[in-house]
Amino acid sequence: MSSQTHFFVPIFFLIFLTTTLTYASTTPKTQTLNTNPNPPQIQYINPKLPQRAFTSSKKYEGSSNLVHLRYHMGPVLSSSPINIYLIWYGNWPNAHKQTIKHFLLSLSSTSAPSPSVSDWWNTLSLYTDQTGANVSRTVLIAGEHSDIRYSHGTQLTRLSMQEVISNAVKSAPFPVDHKNGIFLILTSQDVTVQDFCRAVCGFHYFTFPSMVGYTMPYAWIGNSAKQCPEVCAYPFAIPGYMAGGGPGALTPPNGDVGIDGMISVIAHELAELSSNPLVNAWYAGEDPTAPTEIGDLCEGLYGSGGGGGYIGQVMKGRDGMSFNMNGIRNRRFLVQWIWSPVLKACTGPNKLD
Ligand SMILES: *[C@@H]1O[C@H](CO)[C@@H](O)[C@H](O)[C@H]1NC(C)=O
Repeated sequence: MSSQTHFFVPIFFLIFLTTTLTYASTTPKTQTLNTNPNPPQIQYINPKLPQRAFTSSKKYEGSSNLVHLRYHMGPVLSSSPINIYLIWYGNWPNAHKQTIKHFLLSLSSTSAPSPSVSDWWNTLSLYTDQTGANVSRTVLIAGEHSDIRYSHGTQLTRLSMQEVISNAVKSAPFPVDHKNGIFLILTSQDVTVQDFCRAVCGFHYFTFPSMVGYTMPYAWIGNSAKQCPEVCAYPFAIPGYMAGGGPGALTPPNGDVGIDGMISVIAHELAELSSNPLVNAWYAGEDPTAPTEIGDLCEGLYGSGGGGGYIGQVMKGRDGMSFNMNGIRNRRFLVQWIWSPVLKACTGPNKLD
């Protein structure tokens, strides 16, 4: 490249940034705020926020010999593509569905600029089973069912979740997709679920032949907006007793505390479900009934320099919205990091080298 073209490229680049307001830079190299004399498009921040009220958070950003993540000989989701069968339970506005679907479709799309959601999913593909097969890089939405009439009421238990799936399988109808399928059940903000807000924001497990007809992995995540945003949509909402003084909650990148909070929990559950679908593959700890999985190890961590109340360095757009990765259609998302079996540490696409 001649020095003349070299000169024109950055100018063009700045004009491009100014006109489209999209984030198109490379991986950030510094923790300091952007001191560029041109209007900053993106700031890098590492806010210290009050600890969430509920947390089982075990943050291990640095490589740690204390974490014994072990493989227990079971399968991972290695068949490609991973077919998601979505169940929208309750009242779901279209805009909210779109945000979540754009996130799911970002997992294996290569069109988003770095740091991207698909870069984040690449860490999943480092997990293998005993045959050496890796978690699939391709994730699709294969089917959808809207349970708008709340077929099992507004108070669900862990067990009735499988009845909801059974109902969807018959009504949609969903094909029996043993090899590639998973169910993702999303409940609207007016639905309570056993342990929701108190012990969990979502969970994953597998269906029982006696309930659904066959065994298939599934995950459930609830919209916490009305019930416990400070617990399940942190850091977009922070505990009330800590509000006032200090930094406030972060602004959600898609404009909705409940939905943006849900997306990080969906990511967490999908990561764990893919690496531990039958709860006999990748987890730490000796107790298989309370496994510490690859998302649990990094809960509350979104960037480099996190821990001790800091969420880690994330980006803030000129619109004030916080994010740490890009998705399709100029979407931005704030998603927690996950454990890398290669680095033996939590990692994400916005990691500083
Ligand atoms: C599969 O996993 C192994 C072990 O982590 C890794 O070295 C390899 O790069 C992975 N392959 C793909 C295609 O991701």
